[in-house]
Amino acid sequence: MKIALIGFMGTGKSSVAHLLAESLSYSCIEMDEAVLAKTHCKDMAAVFAKGGELLLRETEIALAREYRTLEETVISTGGGVVLNKIILDYLKENGGIVLFLETSFSEIQKRIEHDETPRPLFQNPDQARTLYEFRLPLYRNYADFTITTDGKTPESIRDEILDYVKSQRELHQ
Ligand code: S3P
Repeated sequence: MKIALIGFMGTGKSSVAHLLAESLSYSCIEMDEAVLAKTHCKDMAAVFAKGGELLLRETEIALAREYRTLEETVISTGGGVVLNKIILDYLKENGGIVLFLETSFSEIQKRIEHDETPRPLFQNPDQARTLYEFRLPLYRNYADFTITTDGKTPESIRDEILDYVKSQRELHQ
């Protein structure tokens, strides 16, 4: 099974993806890291400096295309993959499931303040909130399953996902 985690910046996709992959003995792919490797950039600020947001989005599409036939892999996506429906189509190919980590904006803001990762699209809280509100229906629409994360540990989120994955496996047996 291929499992993709979607959600806004700061929703904990990476931490949960690693825990999940470990529990399932799956591989784990961080799309942001794959973008940096493919564009030969050291961080997202460098990607934007090199080719703007377009370079990021085109690279994400190319990567998702490469991931179409993967099995036994958890993919932690970048927060903007929902801007290109083709990415979601690729992620869902080959029986892939898409899970949305839904976190409130206030919780995201708290987390991002304590994180050093360069995020070119989270420079200004008002703009970030507008982006969040614009994307929320897209995440909800593309997700096969949504997990709310406020006040939960990465381990308990992982456990909720494991229950869902188990139920899906039983359904398809
Ligand atoms: C982005 C989210 C980031 C990264 C880039 C753009 C976005 O990933 O892909 O800075 O458009 O929301 P994370 O969600 O892993 O922070």
